[in-house]
Order: sequence, then structure tokens, then C-alpha cells
Amino acid sequence: MSDSAHMSNDSPGKGSPQNEKDSIKNVLVVALSVCLVCAVIVSAAAVLLKSQRLANKELDRNKNILIAAGLFEQGVTLEEEIVSLFGKFEIRVIDLEEQRLLSDSEVEQAGIDVLKYDQRKAAKNPELSIELSSAEDIASINRRARYSIVYLLRKDGKLDRIVLPIHGYGLWSTLYGFIALRGDGNTVSGITFYEQQETAGLGGEVDNPAWKALWPGKQIYDADHKVALKVIKGTVDKRSPNAKHQVDGLSGATITSRGVQNLIRYWLGDSAFGPVLLGLSGRG
Ligand SMILES: Cc1cc2nc3c(=O)[nH]c(=O)nc-3n(C[C@H](O)[C@H](O)[C@H](O)COP(=O)(O)O)c2cc1C
Repeated sequence: MSDSAHMSNDSPGKGSPQNEKDSIKNVLVVALSVCLVCAVIVSAAAVLLKSQRLANKELDRNKNILIAAGLFEQGVTLEEEIVSLFGKFEIRVIDLEEQRLLSDSEVEQAGIDVLKYDQRKAAKNPELSIELSSAEDIASINRRARYSIVYLLRKDGKLDRIVLPIHGYGLWSTLYGFIALRGDGNTVSGITFYEQQETAGLGGEVDNPAWKALWPGKQIYDADHKVALKVIKGTVDKRSPNAKHQVDGLSGATITSRGVQNLIRYWLGDSAFGPVLLGLSGRG
């Protein structure tokens, strides 16, 4: 048998059913159908799981508040345990424009549901926020919401913990977190960052438990109630009289470290939570 006769037996000729199956039209139809089916599955999953996703986000935020406050015991993983621990907090609203805590009726008048209020979203809404001047904007956040949530924990009737949301720019990203203070409104009880996109191993070390463990016991304010806390380059000299106001910088990540210092200076300073903390601690 000749070679050409062999070829015509093995490969289907033009117009054969096999050739039609491999046509560009068929390939495109199949590819588009697969894309369509996948898009429908992904969209349906996103819609169906939205409430679960939001619930998980809220749970994670509450867990971070507990961590900052030093109330999160290692091994607590059950949702009910986190909910029950978090339930001990009083959720209040601070009016940053008037620099005072609002009463429950004022919160209602302002139309705020403390469990649903989204401060990050509010900061983007011109009606619910203000633009910061470059002199004021030391944390590089551009805008600030008028209202902020604050979490208070009382023990035997006395204020024991004050947890405040904080955010500010590092090197690559805005870092979102919480700082918890003791009832004196001055001593740090913990800090957490639940969202940031700094480089893992460099600025991303803000989330390293070993670095966060350097914060408890540090004092935010000096005798004149000015923010004295600094994230210094290098290691704190424990014998220095300023050691109580200093935290070790992140090695190789001075820019992120400076970002953390700036966001502390802004949020705990006179134009944000500073005056309210003075009032809450009874020193005002
Ligand atoms: C790829 C890359 C990623 C970096 N990521 C960070 C970062 O997340 N945070 C930071 O402060 N510095 C980061 N740096 C280093 C900064 O450019 C800068 O050198 C550093 O902040 C200086 O800190 P040091 O004085 O402690 O070395 C990064 C550098 C490179 C090359």
C-alpha cells in the first residue's frame, strides 16, 4: 500500500465529522460555554456566601479586639466563645468633631447602629467625614469619619480597658488595627493589625506576636498629655528614662515602623481620641 493511501486512512479528511469537531467555531463555543458555567458558579457562590463572609469578617474583627485587650486566650477558636467574650464590651460612639462620647439617645438620633456602623465606609462619604489638611494628616489617611466606635470594658464598675480602632499608611498599604489601653487611658494593654499589605518578613512583621508583645505596659502620653510614644529605630535601652514611651522598630522596615508611630500620634493625639481619653480616665 502507498504512503498516501496510509495517510488518508489515519487522518480524517476535510469535511469529516472529526474535522468539524475541531473547528475554530466549536472550540470557541466550548471555551465560552465553560467560561459561562464557571462565571455562574463563582457568582452564585459569591452571592450565597456573602452573609457568611461578612459574619466571618465581623468575627475576625471581634477576635482582634479581644487580642488587643489581652482577653483572647490561646486556643479559643469556638465562635460562641469569641461572641461571649466580646459580649462583655460596651460599644459606644465617639463624636470626633465634638470630641466626646455620645449618649445612647444621641447615637440613635445620629442614625447609627453600633453593630453595623462601618467607619471605613463612612470615611469615604463626604457627608459622614471630613478631609484632613496635610498638616493634620500625619497618618496619611486623607479623610476621617466623624463618628468612631470605641469598645469599653468595665471590671467591678471601674473602667478596665478602652479599645480604639486605628489606621494609617505604612510603606505599601493602609494598616488597620486596634489599640487597647488600660482604664487610665494611657497604658497600652495591646495592639493588633487585622489588615495590612506590607512586605511579609519586613513591614508585615507588625502582625508578629513577638513584636506586638513589646507593647503592653508602654505609656502613650507624657505629663502634658502629649503623645510621647515612639517606635524607635533599633532596640529600646531599658535603662533609659524614655523606655516606657519607646517600642523597638521593625528591623529593615523603618518606613512601616514610622507609619505605626504616625498613626498612634494621630489617633491618640489632640485632634482625634486624645481629649476623650482624658475624660474617660477621669484625668480631664
Ligand atoms: C521588595 C522590598 C520590600 C520592602 N518592604 C518594606 C516594608 O514593607 N516596610 C518597610 O518599612 N520597608 C520595606 N522595604 C525596605 C525599605 O525600602 C527601606 O529600605 C526600609 O524601610 C529602611 O529600613 P531600615 O532603615 O530599618 O533598613 C522593602 C524593600 C524592598 C526592596
